[in-house]
Amino acid sequence: MTSNSASAEPRPESAGSVIPRHVDGTAPRHPVPRHVAIIMDGNGRWAKARGLPRAAGHKAGAEAARKVLRASGEAGVECLTLYAFSSENWRRPEAEINDLMGLLRFYLQSELNSLHREGIRLKIIGDHNAFKPDVAKMIDHAVSKTAANTRMTLAIALNYGARAEIVKAVGRIAGSGADMAQISEEMIDAALDTAELPPLDLLIRTSGEQRLSNFLLWQVAYSEMLFVDTLWPDFGAEALNAALADFAGRERRFGGL
Ligand code: FPP
Repeated sequence: MTSNSASAEPRPESAGSVIPRHVDGTAPRHPVPRHVAIIMDGNGRWAKARGLPRAAGHKAGAEAARKVLRASGEAGVECLTLYAFSSENWRRPEAEINDLMGLLRFYLQSELNSLHREGIRLKIIGDHNAFKPDVAKMIDHAVSKTAANTRMTLAIALNYGARAEIVKAVGRIAGSGADMAQISEEMIDAALDTAELPPLDLLIRTSGEQRLSNFLLWQVAYSEMLFVDTLWPDFGAEALNAALADFAGRERRFGGL
């Protein structure tokens, strides 16, 4: 859970529908995206191709996440959001869910100190309170320990679904006593789990699938999207840098000419 409260104040960095333009009227280029989000897909296929259990694919996927986080920080990305567990993932076999929770426990324990040392703030989007109490507690501890870090943000989507996030945001606004007839994009922006994060610049999905799977549906409105065939465990620093180079070559018009 986040500490966001519904507010009519637009976030300065998103500034609602105000679109930044150069003085000559051309669209600005953003060599490095401030906020990259990744749908890490293909762990199962990676494992299957090697005759390994799916758990081995998730383990390799978690290693890839570690490498991509480091590479993102080195490239100057301010925020990396990873889709680690969707609200639909509860439909997977219990053994696989347990494997994912085990990995989460392991990485929270083994990586927390280095995340903190490197100035990385951990943020959770979604509702991790549905997880086993020990895991939820570890997450809360990691979030509060790193809360004041400013070099980079790692946002992990856990038990996350974008539609539920939007519904929750609207509920927060209604609960704040706001006049619902006057609801605005800025109010929704400020009530989403992502409220404190920079606007989403680039969304990547690995493994050749071209779907959003209920991830950041609101936030993706003006972001660039990149679908790559690489299976997630094979996606490392080099693939991330190739994605950033692709982004740097795009012209973003935000609906203008
Ligand atoms: C999709 O691959 C991946 C996931 C459902 C989970 C992502 C998890 C990790 C990268 C490991 C790190 C996670 C935690 C919680 C520490 P898939 O299983 O859907 O692959 P497939 O489509 O090839 O079967």
